[in-house]
Amino acid sequence: MTFVDAVTKAAEFSGIALPKPEAKSPEQVSHTQALYDINDKTCTFFEKQLQLPENKSRLDYFKGRKLSEKTIKKFRLSYAPDSFDLLLKHLEKNQANLKLAEELGLIQKKKDGKNFYVKFRHRMMFPFFNVAGKIIGFGGRELKEEQQPKYLNSPESEIYKKGLTLYGLYQAIQSIREQDFLILVEGYFDLLRLVEAGQKNVVASSGTALTDQQARLMARYSKNIYIAYDGDGAGIKAAIRNAQIIENQDLSVYIVPMPDGEDPDSYVLKHGLSAFNELLKKRTLPIEFQLDQYIKQNPNPSLEEKDHFIADVLNELVLFKSASKTGLYIHHLADRMQVSEAMLVSEINRLKQRRARFNKARKNNDTHEEKPQQERPAIKRGAYKAEEGLLALLLNAADETQKYVANHVSINLFENEDYAGLYDHIIHDIEENGKVDVQKLFENPDLNENQHLILTKLTIDQISNEMKHAIGCIFQLKKWQLEKEERDIQNHIKVDNSEEAQMHFTFELAKLNKEKRQLNKDYQHDLKLYRSDDD
Ligand code: CTP
Ligand code: MN
Repeated sequence: MTFVDAVTKAAEFSGIALPKPEAKSPEQVSHTQALYDINDKTCTFFEKQLQLPENKSRLDYFKGRKLSEKTIKKFRLSYAPDSFDLLLKHLEKNQANLKLAEELGLIQKKKDGKNFYVKFRHRMMFPFFNVAGKIIGFGGRELKEEQQPKYLNSPESEIYKKGLTLYGLYQAIQSIREQDFLILVEGYFDLLRLVEAGQKNVVASSGTALTDQQARLMARYSKNIYIAYDGDGAGIKAAIRNAQIIENQDLSVYIVPMPDGEDPDSYVLKHGLSAFNELLKKRTLPIEFQLDQYIKQNPNPSLEEKDHFIADVLNELVLFKSASKTGLYIHHLADRMQVSEAMLVSEINRLKQRRARFNKARKNNDTHEEKPQQERPAIKRGAYKAEEGLLALLLNAADETQKYVANHVSINLFENEDYAGLYDHIIHDIEENGKVDVQKLFENPDLNENQHLILTKLTIDQISNEMKHAIGCIFQLKKWQLEKEERDIQNHIKVDNSEEAQMHFTFELAKLNKEKRQLNKDYQHDLKLYRSDDD
């Protein structure tokens, strides 16, 4: 069944009421529908053009690039004729609303301000589909050298947002789900070549830097991304940069090594799919890839060069959210650069602290700057109090409360980096020795100034009714975390209004609601369970 049907069924089974996606007014719906309709009509027109006897050499172009009828049909590859008005006449004959065609960037007003002319002329056409299979825009490739640009793309419109789209995703969805990994390539032809050869779980980034939304779009279908970009300087750079963007969305990402001068299209044409699969097997973590590239270019780096490179990598690593990934990367870096891992660890900690201080100073400085929605100051202040409360309990409370906190809290509940760092040290102590040695903690060189101040305050804090306090702080932090996730999802719903996205996110919302109810239940339950006599 389709994804949407599956969600509806699953919701039924599990007794979750699916909230209805935000309703659109009938005018809005018909406007959007009309836009899809014009794109579809246009595509059909381009497809017919490709089959005309007089355009046989255009069809030969695709054949020359070893693409079969089947692939041409599946991706609706086609031809925009060399004419300023053929498409225009066709649309007029079919009573299409020309204003809408203009909105879609298919036609444009002439200098006279009255008449239109056609934008895509004498180009091979690659329609873009959304995840529901509707055509939202086009890319058109030049056919003559002097034609500029090489690829002309539809402008953004109500239905086409570049940063939310991945070429070929619609045709790849099923295969990505089945194989649970996705191959990300740069160009249309890279993708088509792989599909032609039988590898269908491919999407193309269309040359540019990925957006966070595109990374999250991939994440909906699989969390395993293999980047197979061109083996030239630009491709390598883009692969590393996009790997970082994907990695920060908590996906696992690998880079496939491509021989210099090849792209997946040329490689598969020359060596076949099985050779490409061998390349896939040689995929590496982005850090290893980066290291390999560096060593290839600098076989004998001087100490200074090495230092420079390490500093560059550490400055990237410091932005990583995941501690385990940072650790793994440090390990590789130490290994390959033949430097001490401990030295790198303390260096990255120093960078982290500097960054935290820098961020703090910046926050204090620009009070005028509008705060992003996630950082509501009111919540922040309260959250810090709750975070502080939990740390104080871990340091001072009776065993029972300490155990309760340790069992119910994890580091990702902390928003403040300084509190999170302290929590990490404290919980480590508790796990190792069963208790915290506050004196030793004070002497820990990893702590920054602010953390010393916090620690001083914590050790003198007096908390009455410890258990109730613990339960309350944990409840508050978890609640805020769920609310933050909810805001995140609401933001997604606003930007991506494809039917599938709407379904997906409403389902996520329903799940969140369920978690919220469970949290409230747990809270009431624990309060009752640990109610003390003086309550
Ligand atoms: N691209 C683009 N606009 C350009 C150049 C490139 O949108 N002016 C995008 C296209 O999606 C293209 C991808 O970047 O597919 C990769 O560019 P390139 O390697 O130049 O094109 P190929 O698709 O490999 O085309 P060909 O093999 O015909 O050169
Ligand atoms: Mn290419």
